Amino acid sequence: MNYDVLDKGLAEQGKRRIEWANQSMPVLNLIRQRFEKEKPLEGMRVAACLHITTETASLLQTLAAGGAQVFACASNPLSTQDDTAASLVVNDSIPCFAIKGEDTKTYYSHINAVLDAAPHYTLDDGADLVSTLHSERREMLSGVKGGTEETTTGVIRLRSMTADGVLKYPIIAVNDAKTKHFFDNRYGTGQSTIDGIIRATNRLLAGASFVVCGYGWCGKGLAMRARGMGAHVIVTEVDPTAALEAVMDGFSVMPIAKAAAIGDFFCTVTGNINVIRKEHFNAMKDGAIVSNSGHFNVELDIPGLESLAKAKREIRPFVMEYTFNDGRRVNLLGEGRLINLAAAEGHPSSVMDMSFANQALCLEYMVKKGADLAVNVYPVPAQIDADIALMKLAAMGILIDELTAEQKKYLASWDIGT
Ligand code: ADE
Repeated sequence: MNYDVLDKGLAEQGKRRIEWANQSMPVLNLIRQRFEKEKPLEGMRVAACLHITTETASLLQTLAAGGAQVFACASNPLSTQDDTAASLVVNDSIPCFAIKGEDTKTYYSHINAVLDAAPHYTLDDGADLVSTLHSERREMLSGVKGGTEETTTGVIRLRSMTADGVLKYPIIAVNDAKTKHFFDNRYGTGQSTIDGIIRATNRLLAGASFVVCGYGWCGKGLAMRARGMGAHVIVTEVDPTAALEAVMDGFSVMPIAKAAAIGDFFCTVTGNINVIRKEHFNAMKDGAIVSNSGHFNVELDIPGLESLAKAKREIRPFVMEYTFNDGRRVNLLGEGRLINLAAAEGHPSSVMDMSFANQALCLEYMVKKGADLAVNVYPVPAQIDADIALMKLAAMGILIDELTAEQKKYLASWDIGT
C-alpha cells in the first residue's frame, strides 16, 4: 500500500483521538452502522481531499464500512494531524498522503497520488483535487462519476468551472446544506477560530479590538464568539446587506482602511483575495495580530507584509513577528493559513458530525443515482438535509412538535385572513 505520512509511530495516539472524536459524532455513527449492513458503496474507489483530522478519519472509516476503497490526501498544507494520518494508514489500511507543513510541491504530489487510484468519486474541500483533475490529470476524468464539495470557496470555484463549461462530472455542494453551513460555518468556525488564535498567542481577548473581515456565516460565528470573549468587535464588509446585518447585530462596521489602525486582532473570513493589503498592514498598531480563517491564505497580502518588514522571526510556534522600519511589529499567525486548523484542531466533532453525515449520505445518493445526474453543481437533496437535522435532534434527546392536520391545511390555504 502506498502512503506518505510523517511517522507511523504516532498511530496509537491517533487512534485514541479518533475514538474521542467519534464519541461526539452520533449521526455519522448511525450512518456507519447502516453502511456496515447495506454496503451501498461496494466496489467504489473514493478519493478524498479533506483536512486530515480525527473527524475526517471518522468519515473515511464510515465510507470504508460502506464498502468503498478510500484514498486520502490533505486539502491544506498546514491542516493535517500527523497522528490521525498515521492511524488511517496503520489501523484502517486507508492510503493517506498528508504531512503537516508539507510544501506546495508535496501538497500537489499528494493530490496526484490519490488521483493515481483512478477514483470513481471525489470528496473535495476547496476544489484543489477537482481543479488538478480537470487540468493536469484529464486522462482520469472519464472514470469519475461524481463528487462532493465541502466548503464555500470550493463551491464558488465549481460554479465558475460550470459557467466556463469546464466541469466534467456532477458534484453536490455539501456546503450549501442547511445542516452544514448554518452550523459548521457559524458555530464551528466561530469556536475553532478563536481556539486557534488563543492557542497560537495565549493573548486576552477581553477588552481588545477584534476586526472580523467578512460577515458571511463564518464571519457571523466569529464575531459572535469574539464578542462572547469580551472583545470590541469591528466588522468590515463589501456587501451592503451583510454590513447592515452586522450593524443590527450590534457590531461596529467600517472600512478596513479605518479599522486597520484600531484593531488588536484581525481575522479574514471572506473567501476573497487581498482583503488586508500592504497599506492596511502599514497602518496597524505595534503588536497587531493578523490571521485568516478562510480557505486560502490569499485573503492576506503576505508579499505586501513581507515588503514592509526589515526583519522577521518566529517568536513562538505559529506566530511570525514582522518588524517594520519604524520599529512597529505585526504578527502573522500560521502563515496566514486557516488558523483554526493550523494552530488548533478545526471544528469540534459534534458540528463536523452533521457536515460529514451530509458527505456520506450525498455520496450514497450519487452512487444510487448513477448516470441519472447530468454534469452540474447540485444542492444537497432536501430530504437528506432534513433527515440529518432530525437524527441530530434525536441524538441530543430533543423532541419537537409536529404540524396538526388543521395547521397543514391552513398553510396550504389562502382564504382565511383577518
Ligand atoms: N474543517 C473545519 N474543521 C474541520 C475538522 N475538524 N475536520 C475536517 N474538516 C474541517
